[in-house]
Amino acid sequence: ASYTIGVDIGGTKIAIGVVDEKGAIHAKTILPTDHTATPTQMVDRIQQAIHGMLMDLGPGKEHVLGIGIGVPGPIDKTKGKFLCPPNLPKWANFAVVDEFQKYFSLPIQFENDANAATLGEKWIGAAKDNRNFVYITISTGIGAGLYINGGLVSGASGNAGEAGHIVIDPGKGTCRCGQKGCFEWVASGTAIARQGSELLGKHVTAKEVFQLYQEGHPAISSLISEIVTYIGMGCVTLINLFDPEKIVIGGGVSEVGEVLFAGIQNYVRQYALSPKGRETAIVPAALRQDTGIIGAAALIFLR
Ligand code: BGC
Ligand code: NA
Ligand code: ZN
Repeated sequence: ASYTIGVDIGGTKIAIGVVDEKGAIHAKTILPTDHTATPTQMVDRIQQAIHGMLMDLGPGKEHVLGIGIGVPGPIDKTKGKFLCPPNLPKWANFAVVDEFQKYFSLPIQFENDANAATLGEKWIGAAKDNRNFVYITISTGIGAGLYINGGLVSGASGNAGEAGHIVIDPGKGTCRCGQKGCFEWVASGTAIARQGSELLGKHVTAKEVFQLYQEGHPAISSLISEIVTYIGMGCVTLINLFDPEKIVIGGGVSEVGEVLFAGIQNYVRQYALSPKGRETAIVPAALRQDTGIIGAAALIFLR
């Protein structure tokens, strides 16, 4: 077998895995994103985890083809650098590929996290059979990948698909990117936890918000129907722009918020412009919490 290391760097956690050429995960480490640590210190923790997993791989480590890294955008793709990620402010301008190259002589591929996850879902996930689909991750932030006409849309600088920062509701406060009412400011996991906490007057997580919703909490029910509308608006915008066969939704919120899917599907059925668009299926990521790792590994395998 041959292997690839997939690294998914996020605003809440860093997921690292050893993935084989069929997409099976042989080892996995989850590190919390320590916002008090410098990016250099975090990369040191990541490389220790990778070296530990490579030791356990034994003789298999001769067949490691490379490292794929997915990171929140925007990115400088050619330089392998972060630019100004709203949810990882300390990592702004950090040359992450150079830093990894200090520890590894393996080939490294670098992509936006949502774009990498998109390739994972195309490779062995919910979009295996699609030539046109949009992937949306709803987690600490919101990101998207556009897989159109049989390929990932990169744009001029590798930053196409920054759907988390389209304006959904400008009256709702200022996003970490500086603009008012971004999609991720109103509908990400962070946004669900923030608005739930405001309504309840105590700190709750997005998962707890969904539990209260299941229990029929009235204020939380109206919050969740607003979230459904916002995600529906995001989906309709992407459907109208890109005419995908389906939309795949991944990230932590899709894990704890399965209840959202029916409402989003209804919104799309009602408001997408074309008759075909209204039929667009809205489906959960098949690789679930491993989409990021497998997508990062796909950067090497599908390169
Ligand atoms: C970034 C995206 C990223 C998403 C999820 C957003 O804030 O702009 O590039 O995909 O968060 O990490
Ligand atoms: Na993207
Ligand atoms: Zn924004």
